[in-house]
Amino acid sequence: MPTPRAVPDNGFDREAAMRAYRANRTRTAALFALVEPPAYYAQPIPLRHPLVFYDGHIPAFAVNCLLRKGLGAAGLDPELDMLFARGIDPHDGRAAAASAIDRWPARDAVRQYVDRADRAILDALETADVAGDANAVLRRAQGVHTLLEHEMMHQETLLYMYHRLDFELKRPPAGTEPVTGGPPPAHAVVHVPAGRATLGSTRDAIPFGWDNEFPALEVEVAAFGIDRYNVTNQDYLAFVEAGGYAERSLWTPAAWRRREAAGRAHPLFWERRDGAWTWRGMFEPIPLPAAWPVYVTHDEAAAYAAWRGLRLPSEPEFHRAAYGAPDGVERPHPWGAAEPDGTRGNFDFRHWDPLPVGSYPAGASAWGVHDLVGNGWEWTATVFEGFPGFEPMASYPEYSADFFDGDHYVVKGASSATGRGLIRRSFRNWFRPHYPYVYAAFRCVRDIL
Ligand code: AVJ
Ligand code: FE
Repeated sequence: MPTPRAVPDNGFDREAAMRAYRANRTRTAALFALVEPPAYYAQPIPLRHPLVFYDGHIPAFAVNCLLRKGLGAAGLDPELDMLFARGIDPHDGRAAAASAIDRWPARDAVRQYVDRADRAILDALETADVAGDANAVLRRAQGVHTLLEHEMMHQETLLYMYHRLDFELKRPPAGTEPVTGGPPPAHAVVHVPAGRATLGSTRDAIPFGWDNEFPALEVEVAAFGIDRYNVTNQDYLAFVEAGGYAERSLWTPAAWRRREAAGRAHPLFWERRDGAWTWRGMFEPIPLPAAWPVYVTHDEAAAYAAWRGLRLPSEPEFHRAAYGAPDGVERPHPWGAAEPDGTRGNFDFRHWDPLPVGSYPAGASAWGVHDLVGNGWEWTATVFEGFPGFEPMASYPEYSADFFDGDHYVVKGASSATGRGLIRRSFRNWFRPHYPYVYAAFRCVRDIL
């Protein structure tokens, strides 16, 4: 018997939303099952909360966003709704607050809270007016999309936190052998002619976007040359061996200060073992794979580019390289209009680590630039801010605006741990220039005169 409904659907597909919610929860549960019980209270990244926080945060965010803000309902548990409310990319003050929480609830208590939250959210998706006109959180089901995409983002957070955990705390599932490949393909510079790039999106063009994706911004981009492949470990090793980390002139004064403060002399993903470089893989150390994209901070990427007399692409240049085409019609994805699937790039949790650059010829852009979506986010030279006409979104007004501080850079594309649902042209991600934990790669550009 179908459940009788007291409220209209407004064209909202309840079953699809419930399926998406359950699919998210299943994946999150599978991710939590990857680590041994003691890891639950571990804090692999000092500036972030321990794993337990994310277990509670994902459903608490859904409760706060959809049930409380959207539907005006009571929360589930005033204390836990609050405890698990926030915890993103903390500023130093917030980090202090985070570590000040010295007693997290017992795993069992979190489990009970999570189960209650899941039932309440699914019940709302099935029967409540979650896509109504009563307020902006509900309109066009913004709150529902917000909570679904929020969970996907934290699945990526979890994975890059796991990357820092002791190997003994992880349980590798079958089929996790890294694909290291041989030597990287020869580098080439791809010429992208001058043309227009559309950043962001109009509201009607997509069912949902975060506030920073609106309104669309059209930019004229001058011609430039861009690396066909990401900068690889092999490329980056030359920079390290040439003393790039000791050459002050290659770093901006702020980047140099940050480098010194962190004591960084090589990428965080590189570790020295028995006199040789290894890559810190998800489940094991791997002799440095020459053909993998190097994961680095913005500061490190920019210093490498300076060493080569080049620079990082701007956000509009990334768009031109990824979505532009010789016929002047911008594509939804680098490869065209086809859905993102496993043939187009390393995203959606198919691999735990990178793959050799150039592994997805079917994902190349119209100009023949590889791996723009997948195998690591791509650093841009663009400071994160709203497009002209930016308005904070009702379901989560702090989402972007809290980070318009001149100290975050736009990254584009996707990593191995970016869910399929986050893959769209207008999606923008951002991190601090010295945040070393994310799966972030880069490539260089040069002016063409
Ligand atoms: C947009 C990925 C930078 O992880 O800090 C999660 C996403 N915001 N919860 C982050 C986010 C609130 C955010 N990033
Ligand atoms: Fe969050």
